[in-house]
Amino acid sequence: MTKPEIAAVKIRNFLSRLVPGDGKRPFSSVIVAAAGSGTRMGGVVKALFPLNGKPCLWYSLDLFEKNSLIDEVILVIREEDRKDVERFLEEHPFQKVKAVVTGGETRQASVKNGFAAVSEKCGLLWIHDAARPALTENDLETLSRAALRCGAACAANRAIDTVKRVGKNGMILETVPRDDLVTVQTPQVFRTDLYRVSLALAEKDGFTATDDCALAEHAGFSVFPCETGRANLKLTTPDQVSLLEKILKEQGS
Ligand code: CTP
Ligand code: MG
Repeated sequence: MTKPEIAAVKIRNFLSRLVPGDGKRPFSSVIVAAAGSGTRMGGVVKALFPLNGKPCLWYSLDLFEKNSLIDEVILVIREEDRKDVERFLEEHPFQKVKAVVTGGETRQASVKNGFAAVSEKCGLLWIHDAARPALTENDLETLSRAALRCGAACAANRAIDTVKRVGKNGMILETVPRDDLVTVQTPQVFRTDLYRVSLALAEKDGFTATDDCALAEHAGFSVFPCETGRANLKLTTPDQVSLLEKILKEQGS
């Protein structure tokens, strides 16, 4: 990935903010990352973990299936979970799931494998964690608008806890002012060309990160954090199960 190639995408991205679009929504693909090991959940396949009787993954796939902002879904899983995932997809035949690909050692490697399976028509790329079941239609609309306007956007919340930096000896070094701090979640949404150059540059530089916005930031793109609310929790530890089930019930899913 050369500097002129990145510059060309930046200029295109900038110009697209000035020139009104033709009103047509670009073909939108979502990569759903489900290839983790669920270590903090005790080694369960989080995507298939039952919440109010339905697998965690069902909730986001059902939303994508029903929502006209999404055209196709690429599901990324561990090869060892393939049989179980295929059984789940037989029981719940989501038409938009176009490929089920094998993930990698890290989340970044999994998303990269998913990206290779995305349709060539894709103009807007969504990346979502299978472990976040409580996404809403409203979130999709907010994120789509922001990503089309800015080139890249992600679900986010203002930091509410006081944040401290801790030293090597385990003691607090300082309090970090939190006025300009946000915590980010998924979905993270990108113009496809912006994501493509960001991924290529990260690979070239050996840059690794735990989220996809970091790749865009590394390439020098601006990402808009959309406040999407605190319900969009990630199933990470067993003590979150009852709260997530309560949220999903309240959302009527
Ligand atoms: N993920 C992935 N490929 C990996 C690692 C993670 O697709 N190699 C996915 C997970 O399936 C999850 C999302 O990325 O939907 C967020 O990761 P995380 O919550 O950390 O899930 P796990 O890695 O499965 O959990 P843990 O870190 O506790 O092992
Ligand atoms: Mg993990």
